[in-house]
Amino acid sequence: MTRHVSVANLADVPEGTMLRVQVDGTDILLVNLEGSVRAMQGICSHEYFELDQGFLTGDSITCALHLSRFDLETGEALDPPAELPLAIYPVTVQGDGSIVLELPDGPVPVNE
Ligand code: FES
Repeated sequence: MTRHVSVANLADVPEGTMLRVQVDGTDILLVNLEGSVRAMQGICSHEYFELDQGFLTGDSITCALHLSRFDLETGEALDPPAELPLAIYPVTVQGDGSIVLELPDGPVPVNE
């Protein structure tokens, strides 16, 4: 079973920026990549570090602590030391700009 959770408005995440939000205490990172919003776990899969402190580098994000890059489409870790992918969550942007995540019932899945 899934649930749909509105987490922000598109106006809060202009193109080329990111925003960290929380659902049930779990950090989630929203990224606006050329007008397309992606959602992924907000904490690095390597160690505890907030990914919104990192850098958007084309179609990847670079964690600022040990510089692993992650693919924004798949979550795949592109460089060591991170090995686990980031969990990716399906996103829709509604007509009023609401950014809605599709999440499983229960805890938000995170790779760590
Ligand atoms: S904490 Fe992100 S690469 Fe180490």
